[in-house]
Amino acid sequence: MSTDPETILVTGGSGYIGSHMCVELLSAGRQVVVLDNLSNSSMASVEAVQRITQKALTFVQGDIRDSDCLAAIFAEHNIDAVMHFAGLKAVGESTEVPVKYYDNNMNGTLRLVEAMHQAGCKTLVFSSSATVYGLPEQMPITESAPTGAINPYGRTKLMVEEVLQDLFAADPTWRISLLRYFNPVGAHASGEIGEDPNDIPNNLMPFISQVAVGRREKLNVFGDDYPTPDGTGIRDYIHVVDLVRGHMKALEFLRDKPKLTVHNLGTGQGYSVLDAVRAFEQASGVSIPFEITDRRPGDAAVSYADPSKARDELGWEAEYDLHRMCEDAWRWQSKYPQGFQE
Ligand code: NAD
Ligand code: WQD
Repeated sequence: MSTDPETILVTGGSGYIGSHMCVELLSAGRQVVVLDNLSNSSMASVEAVQRITQKALTFVQGDIRDSDCLAAIFAEHNIDAVMHFAGLKAVGESTEVPVKYYDNNMNGTLRLVEAMHQAGCKTLVFSSSATVYGLPEQMPITESAPTGAINPYGRTKLMVEEVLQDLFAADPTWRISLLRYFNPVGAHASGEIGEDPNDIPNNLMPFISQVAVGRREKLNVFGDDYPTPDGTGIRDYIHVVDLVRGHMKALEFLRDKPKLTVHNLGTGQGYSVLDAVRAFEQASGVSIPFEITDRRPGDAAVSYADPSKARDELGWEAEYDLHRMCEDAWRWQSKYPQGFQE
């Protein structure tokens, strides 16, 4: 493989994080090929990415489980590295239709690495998740903390990590970066791309944004009896632009020699649900009505990263604070109240 990856295949590149990744890659002068089946995104984000960067990318509508489609992409483009975002990510849905999640996330990744092997492309950055830590006992969470996912979605992430570790053990010429994201939020500063969930948002920040813009009446705060200062759950929210910059650094880190690495991508700062509500109110100037409801089953009380491994090895640190995350999320949501349907 070339030591200077020029053409990057971004699976899931029209989704929330993938679209921000494409902006970063195109801005850094990379060629980008996106493979996405549009199951949870639309062409509008691809168009917006090209508008923001004033650069063209190649879009292929197809499925990562389709080996012929993958083979055609590798035959047509000289792909140097793959950034693999494609996957299903709704925890609740994964408990209702687990087989759909195993098929999409596991089989999809297996077909992808087979196609990469066939094509001789052995550089892969994988979207893993802090969900692999299950209900962690010690804070902050280091990469060596015990893993143990507690729902089918989380298990797909953990299983893919294990498959990739086995792959690397069998063939140490691969270059694989496993990135465990904490809670990605926010949007590109242009307000042209952002998170646009189908149906009712499962996650806190998009729910707050939709309350602020008038699409939902109030936020349900899932429990105020956790052992935290204000009783609500604490998480490590990370700006999506910081997150994708971490991927650029991870890709660079794979350059010098083959290796498999694992890094947390978080800020190391924990904020409660009520902190997030207040920060969003400040950034938007809109008040967010909320009601305290029961805990959501399976939620940890507290989760935040020890990001020092990424800092020391990748030379990466998150720059944006919670206020900026809310400001950027609000810019996107207020410009496009109905998201990409506008
Ligand atoms: P997203 O749903 O916005 O993006 C995923 C994209 O993958 C979508 O555009 C979807 O259409 C596409 N896709 C799904 N299955 C596909 C398939 N079989 N073939 C081709 N395309 C397919 O989600 P996101 O928030 O951008 O997440 C990206 C990745 O990061 C996912 O793997 C997710 O599990 C992981 N992750 C996300 C978070 C988060 O909170 N957003 C946290 C940790 C990890
Ligand atoms: C954050 C906090 C909730 C919604 C999930 C996945 C994880 C990863 C990121 C992909 C918690 C509270 C939420 C609401 C609330 N995704 N909350 N009202 O649960 O940390 O992580 O997304 O890998 O796998 O599990 O994020 O945004 O859902 O919740 O009070 O309407 O907000 O209880 O304390 P979570 P979240």
